[in-house]
Amino acid sequence: MKQFIIINGPNLNLLGKREVNIYGNRSFEDFLEELKTHFQGRCSLDYFQSNSEGLLLDKLHEVGYSFDGIILNGGAYTHTSVAIGDAIAAISSPVIEVHISNVYARETFRHHSYFSAHCAGCIIGCGLDGYRLAIEHLLIRS
Ligand code: DQA
Repeated sequence: MKQFIIINGPNLNLLGKREVNIYGNRSFEDFLEELKTHFQGRCSLDYFQSNSEGLLLDKLHEVGYSFDGIILNGGAYTHTSVAIGDAIAAISSPVIEVHISNVYARETFRHHSYFSAHCAGCIIGCGLDGYRLAIEHLLIRS
């Protein structure tokens, strides 16, 4: 069975409480249960969240040569982290970059991603459904 992991970056542990007008009022834990049920029997789905850039790098190194796909929402590190961009370029597992909000409709500092050029694809502005779409794509692709 294909093995995927969702990796969420800083502040995404606050989904459901954080700027609900932008990110919605659903916690990720709640959404993840639904997602796991949806994909039951089709793939295995791990989850990792960290607010620390170093821990996100360590997780990418750990899974990036063996997993069949990585769904990455790097939060604000997307717009700042050359190191995470380099890690995505270094690993062999395909990475799909996901953003819940449409970053292009927001502040200009959110318009640049250090990740996108190294990712297999990007899903932006589709809300939490972006994670499901990324997994559907990885299942077809891998
Ligand atoms: C985000 C967009 C980022 O700009 C922001 O810093 C986040 C969340 C999104 O999912 O829309 O933390 O990645």
